[in-house]
Amino acid sequence: MAQLAVSVAGLSLRNPLLSASGTFGHGLEMRHVVAPSLVGALVSKTVTPRPRPGNAMPRIQETEAGLLNSIGLENRGMQSYLDTTLPEVAGADTVIITNIGGETEQEFAEIAAAFDGRPEIDAFELNLSCPNVDGGALPYSTDPKTAERVVASVRAVTRKPLFAKLSPNVTRIEDIAVACERGGADGLTAVNTVLGMSIDWRTGRPGLGTIVGGYSGTAIKPIALRCAWQCARAVSLPVLGCGGVRCAEDVLEFLAVGCSAVQVGTANFGEPGLLARMPAELDRLLDDAGFASVEDLIGSVRGGSRAEVPG
Ligand code: SIN
Repeated sequence: MAQLAVSVAGLSLRNPLLSASGTFGHGLEMRHVVAPSLVGALVSKTVTPRPRPGNAMPRIQETEAGLLNSIGLENRGMQSYLDTTLPEVAGADTVIITNIGGETEQEFAEIAAAFDGRPEIDAFELNLSCPNVDGGALPYSTDPKTAERVVASVRAVTRKPLFAKLSPNVTRIEDIAVACERGGADGLTAVNTVLGMSIDWRTGRPGLGTIVGGYSGTAIKPIALRCAWQCARAVSLPVLGCGGVRCAEDVLEFLAVGCSAVQVGTANFGEPGLLARMPAELDRLLDDAGFASVEDLIGSVRGGSRAEVPG
């Protein structure tokens, strides 16, 4: 049997499999399909200081090879999370990572401070990269100085591990990764959704009420893999891979490019029990390939030069 346990930013995960924010409720809603004890960690839907109704409908659009969404961070706000969700989460036999967001830079620190004393929360994931608010401007994940400032303001109010969730919608994700490391992040999540849109050419109607939204699912895996690899090379922080993962082979690819653990997102909608069968598949694949542990595979990608092709 291969050793699946990994240690990430001081967290002991029984395996490298995490739910991705927004695809698994707050985690425990899915416990009858995926026992929390089967996954390395559960990542919550983004929680913001105040309740948010989310964006205008329609907010979900299936496409040929993925999913467009423009949810707009709908959630009941931090008080509801404190009063209702956390008491339920308390009994979960896994690591709990709470994804937090804000409408202003100050709100990230406000919510982190409000949650810091709660022992049910093992770590924070900062949602710096939601494309469905602020008119899609991505203010916290496209400018290194802003990203660094937001991470630093959260760092100042908590010692819990902080993962900054980055956007693929930038020219040089390495620069944002380095800025988050400077700000005091303990890890990165690479990546959130890719900006996209759909349209019905007969009616002229866009698929999403906001026209542009976030694209996820199988089609974005090569983009996410490239971003995760670039982040892993740019910083000395652990990277959580995320984007287009739909099977154990995909998880192993993200580990090979340097990720310490991997989030499974959109694929949960097609197969809600996916995360329950993945640990055994990871074990079998690693065993068959002669790897004694997940740790042995991490960062095993070969090569590294990107020689320019002469024009
Ligand atoms: C949303 O709520 O709009 C999706 C979350 C995200 O993309 O960060």
